[in-house]
Amino acid sequence: MSFVNLNDIRVSYDGKQNILEHLNISMEKGELVSLLGPSGCGKTTTLRVIAGLITPNDGSFVLDDEEMVKVPVHKRNFGMVFQSYALFPHLTIAENVAFGLKLRKISKAEMDKKVNEMLAVCGLEELGSRYPKQLSGGQRQRVALARALVIEPKLLLLDEPLSNLDAKLRVQMRIEIKRLQQQLGITTVFVTHDQEECFSISDKVAVMNNGVIEQYDTPEMIYRYPKTKFVANFIGFENFFAMEQVAGKEYRSGEAIFETTYEQAPAKELVATIRPDDIEIASTEEKNIVNGQVEVRTFLGKSYQYEVTTALGKFLVNGNDKQIYETGEKITLTFPKEKIILLENK
Ligand SMILES: Nc1ncnc2c1ncn2[C@@H]1O[C@H](COP(=O)(O)OP(=O)(O)OP(=O)(O)O)[C@@H](O)[C@H]1O
Ligand SMILES: [Mg+2]
Repeated sequence: MSFVNLNDIRVSYDGKQNILEHLNISMEKGELVSLLGPSGCGKTTTLRVIAGLITPNDGSFVLDDEEMVKVPVHKRNFGMVFQSYALFPHLTIAENVAFGLKLRKISKAEMDKKVNEMLAVCGLEELGSRYPKQLSGGQRQRVALARALVIEPKLLLLDEPLSNLDAKLRVQMRIEIKRLQQQLGITTVFVTHDQEECFSISDKVAVMNNGVIEQYDTPEMIYRYPKTKFVANFIGFENFFAMEQVAGKEYRSGEAIFETTYEQAPAKELVATIRPDDIEIASTEEKNIVNGQVEVRTFLGKSYQYEVTTALGKFLVNGNDKQIYETGEKITLTFPKEKIILLENK
């Protein structure tokens, strides 16, 4: 059995609408798992279930072979940083960080040592004697993180812990979180709606939509092989087009025939997708080509993007600056077979 097991969790706040449904997550010890999804999909609710702040209507949560649903919050020994990282305003930064340790019976000297180490790790060593209101939003966020980490929690729960930091600090801090999490071997659930942030640090990602996990896999697998249209869309695929199987790896969309890598169609209701970077302009084969006309050209910096009208619909295609196409120009697109992804159309 895995270290963390959420089994068939259901949550309804009002007894009518399900906010989470059939939610399953398993994690190994020391893993960092992210919950990724749009606003309102149930990420914070999932974290609240794990933290013990809400009791699920159905399902179980087993941690290290112990059923947790009935264990009260304060007995769980989890570190948490929530979206609103409440610091104690009347305590200094060092006292805030020490707070979780106060409940333990450790000596003052040991406590000071741990607090100072954690302040240093989080880049707060100069600020230990200040009060929260004397800190910037980003600094407060780091205090919240230090406070959660210093207790060496069994589980670390982070709800958008970097949302108040500027872009550069955000990247630094996410590397820092990953380093600390690995070094201390802390099993971590990280909530974000930022795809790059999530993919860069996670061992596994749960992509959520409307209270349901649509895909739970490694970042690499999700990036390359999204399973549903929602997941593909969320992680930046464009260009969705109808597809039906002809025979074996051969498929059809309208009049066009496509060779793919799928011997078996992955779903009954199929849709195909391809990234704008993966479409080639020019025909190199007989199959997998679509004729079209450039409708709009935009400059992306490292490439040009074309909106191309075809018999299969509109496609976004990225081209280089070696050959630039004009609005109205007729072009042929090639869809390399290994770049065509077949999805469940939901
Ligand atoms: N206490 C509550 N009572 C009733 N409904 C709630 C409550 N808390 C959250 N919800 C609803 O549950 C759904 C999921 O909310 P949740 O906070 O889990 O979303 P989220 O994925 O964390 O979103 P965000 O990215 O905006 O933080 C939303 O539709 C929200 O309105
Ligand atoms: Mg939230």
